[in-house]
Amino acid sequence: MKAAITATAKYLPDSILSNHDLELLFETNDEWIRSRTGISERRILKDPEKPTSFMCGEVARQLLAKRGIAAEEIELIIVATMTPDMLFPSTACVTQSIIGASNAWAFDLNAACSGFLYALHTAASFIENGTHKKVMVIGADKMSSVIDYTDRSTAILFGDGAGGVILEPAQEEGYGVLDTRLYADGAGGKDHLLMKAGGSLNPATHETVDKRMHFIHQDGRQVFKSAVTSMANVADEIMTRNNLRADDVDYLVPHQANQRIINATAERMGIDERKVVSNVGRYGNTTAGTIPICLAELDEEGKLHSGSNLVLVSFGAGYTWGGIYIKWQ
Ligand code: UT7
Repeated sequence: MKAAITATAKYLPDSILSNHDLELLFETNDEWIRSRTGISERRILKDPEKPTSFMCGEVARQLLAKRGIAAEEIELIIVATMTPDMLFPSTACVTQSIIGASNAWAFDLNAACSGFLYALHTAASFIENGTHKKVMVIGADKMSSVIDYTDRSTAILFGDGAGGVILEPAQEEGYGVLDTRLYADGAGGKDHLLMKAGGSLNPATHETVDKRMHFIHQDGRQVFKSAVTSMANVADEIMTRNNLRADDVDYLVPHQANQRIINATAERMGIDERKVVSNVGRYGNTTAGTIPICLAELDEEGKLHSGSNLVLVSFGAGYTWGGIYIKWQ
């Protein structure tokens, strides 16, 4: 039996960082940011005592309430993140403790912006093999913790946020997570999008801090080119493999990095812009959070019906990318 999404939830911090706020930090302007990225503002989890697990806890509590189940019923929690509270213990274990999911095992998965798709596929496999009945999958990133707010090429792009789903066996054949294609290119991605220090290669020293090596470094132009090609290719592949014509797709749910990348993917699929989910203007790129936040918003707006065809696509550091086809239950 395939795995179906039975609850969605999201958490966005209240504090807004607008393009005009960024104009005060470095040489940039609202018009440049909006025309090059589509972003007007992003959310920032300002409280330094609130890490990524805080957002995961908020999402997890809502998921339980929406599904009407107790925390003890969850058997596995996967948190996709590249900004865990600490390298260890995992943010998934911290989340398990926050909600008291005492019967769940828990682990983090890091595939950067593709983290949620990697985690969704992993979770779906545990449902499909019959060993699990209720799995929680959360994508969450506190990107403000790894952004250099003197670097205008990255600071404009990212925000904080989290989203998640509960996965359970689909009630009927032909519904749920029907097809997945996931990819990685470690050779292509390693120099263009990375955080240089804080791991075993460059453990934290005064020097790594002075050299600002604990922040995101990105060659935006290179990543942009790879993202456009890879997201469009995988979207096309998912459509072909599943005999989906543009008219059959109810929603394209793309990773939210840049409106121009989203538009290029939609154009290649030939789908109407009204079917393309976009909130990058309001939240920026929340990395592993973007796709589950989009799903939660579609759900809140009452746009998901039994039989709705969704194509999810992502691209991120690694490089990692992929696509998932869901027929909504
Ligand atoms: O999901 C994966 C995560 N990341 C991404 O998907 C990001 C992918 N990349 C991008 O979204 C785009 O490459 C950016 C938005 C980062 C940059 O847009 P671009 O159209 O590729 O601009 P560029 O880097 O080619 O820069 C064009 C010009 C440069 O000036 P010169 O050299 O032409 O004089 C930059 O210095 O714009 C300048 N610039 C800025 N100007 C105002 C770069 N950042 C800014 C800024 N404000 N914030």
